[in-house]
Amino acid sequence: MNNPTPFHSGELKVQQRAKEASIAQRNGTAISHLIIPGAIPFIAQQNMLVVTSVDHRKKVWVSILIGDAGFVSAPDPESIVIDTTKLLTQQSDIFWRNIKVNAQIGLLAIELSTRRRLRVNGTISQLNQTRFKINVEQAFPNCPKYIQRRSLDISSPKSSADLPPVLTGHYLTNKHIELIQNADSFFVGSANTSFSNSDNKKVERSQNQIELLSCDASHRGGFPGFVEVIDGKTLRIPDYRGNSMFNTLGNIENFPFASIVFIDFENLKILQLSGRAKILWDQHDPTDKTAGTRRFWTLAVDDWQETTLPDAVNWKLLDYSPHNPRETKNTQQTIRRLELKVEKIEQKSKRVKLFRLVSQKGELLPAFEPGAHLPIEINLSTGEKVKRHYSLLSSSHDNRFYEIAVQLEAQGRGGSMFIHQQITVGSTITSGQPQNNFPLSPISGHTILIAGGIGITPILSMLRKLSEEKRSFEIHYAARNPSEFIFFKTINSLAGDKASFYHSSGPSPKRLPLQKIMESAPGHSHLFICGPARMINSARTLTEGLNWSHSRLHFESFGATNSADDKAIDVTLKKSARVIKVKPTETILDALIKSNVPIPFDCKRGECGMCATKIISGQPEHRDIYLNQDERAQQICVCVSRAKGSQLTLDL
Ligand code: FES
Repeated sequence: MNNPTPFHSGELKVQQRAKEASIAQRNGTAISHLIIPGAIPFIAQQNMLVVTSVDHRKKVWVSILIGDAGFVSAPDPESIVIDTTKLLTQQSDIFWRNIKVNAQIGLLAIELSTRRRLRVNGTISQLNQTRFKINVEQAFPNCPKYIQRRSLDISSPKSSADLPPVLTGHYLTNKHIELIQNADSFFVGSANTSFSNSDNKKVERSQNQIELLSCDASHRGGFPGFVEVIDGKTLRIPDYRGNSMFNTLGNIENFPFASIVFIDFENLKILQLSGRAKILWDQHDPTDKTAGTRRFWTLAVDDWQETTLPDAVNWKLLDYSPHNPRETKNTQQTIRRLELKVEKIEQKSKRVKLFRLVSQKGELLPAFEPGAHLPIEINLSTGEKVKRHYSLLSSSHDNRFYEIAVQLEAQGRGGSMFIHQQITVGSTITSGQPQNNFPLSPISGHTILIAGGIGITPILSMLRKLSEEKRSFEIHYAARNPSEFIFFKTINSLAGDKASFYHSSGPSPKRLPLQKIMESAPGHSHLFICGPARMINSARTLTEGLNWSHSRLHFESFGATNSADDKAIDVTLKKSARVIKVKPTETILDALIKSNVPIPFDCKRGECGMCATKIISGQPEHRDIYLNQDERAQQICVCVSRAKGSQLTLDL
């Protein structure tokens, strides 16, 4: 029997035209009519929801709801409840009027500080005076790319009763345009209806006969400036690569009305725009605004609403998404790539080599900030072209050369093997511009640096800067044994008695006392940690236990790699009654894909949660940095995690 597709005609049409139908089909397996068990506690932790609704004229609106702890909950996998007594945003928002005429809504639960998110489409009904229930029709994880991390704190819950009234209008003001042009994020609302033709005039003629089928709320992000206001009334947005499902563009394909909401995080304003949307295919894109898709969409604004948030709401930008595309200012796109020559290679330990890279043309190299990495292009022996990311460890104040350190991973995906075996002094390396998703923010307080193994590379660049600027810091460096302490002398000379070293084997082992370090950290300090997934997960767990705010923990994992100790696993798929043999050298995900088992995935690094799968039995060995403690009891990210034993049964 064929599986019915979870996509409607508009989505299928856009997927086909973008040539991403097969990826969409694969990722569509994540769409369920129930909320997965692991997402139920996640919903209850949220202070913010993004909701899409449709008004009596069939105009689409997307709204932001913010509430005190407990304002939203999922009492069971089929429903979500909103308690309006805990709401901090204004109940004069158009959402509350719209749901009286159209019960279909789209909902996005998104935690910006962790980039975790869940999309739900369904119908809303009023339970009593203060409680509304959403009956779930579709639930699925949203694409985490392009989400800027922001903490949201609600200092002292306060009534929204004394907030200024909602402002409305048709023409954007200069202030609105300024907000839009500087935005790094927005949310988009769209709808699918019984009307499936994008001819605007026909829509107007038959507005009353149109049956609303579903709504959707989604996130969009990029570096400030990614949204253009092209004629004072029309916004143009690049459509970057996402999860290939095209829920928003698919809706626009069928029903050309949509809505966008911007949050003015500084001034605590919300700007909602409602208008007509249009997809622009195969556009001339000389500066690569679309990061290769050559696809834009526009929203011609018909109406706007501006509301004010209570001043109890505090947002803080933590970092930009590492996936945000950068526009090429020079129309010659070659500026995006760097041709580098290997000037020096040094064996730093048995498995780690240091490479010093200079410009092939003898020029100064583009500046970077500590925490940045170089995306290096590699041609694997299989003929496959891949990108591997290596942290820059040289001083960010010296742009005559870059230095990276590469650890040989015998069980890895081939990148480190290629670099160790094929790259010699004089070789040419092609790389993208330095990118930074782990920036050392200019915090005035104390900084704690923690590195595990090869995770020292971005930390070393941070250490150089903190030391040069004479800022308050301490550094903790853990390795398996003393022979693996690369840059030992450099760290000692930069940090002196602020440096502590730990090793788990060899003479006089001393383990990293993570809990003690975090417990005794001054209240204003920030922790930057880079190392294996289990080290980062310990820090994340402690953050929760010690009541640290999310904004104080900054981490980067160098990805979970296979280890020489990995064993073969028999993975039993309960629903399809199959047993998949996973070799020690492959991931569970790779074995599933090879066996044509449909499973959604994206990052393949244990970071996005797309491949999280319910465990029926067996003991998982978690290597991801996505799932939290509660979720780990029930789910496994099959792209990186394995089993402690030789058997695992999954709900597939
Ligand atoms: S694919 Fe991203 S966590 Fe597995």
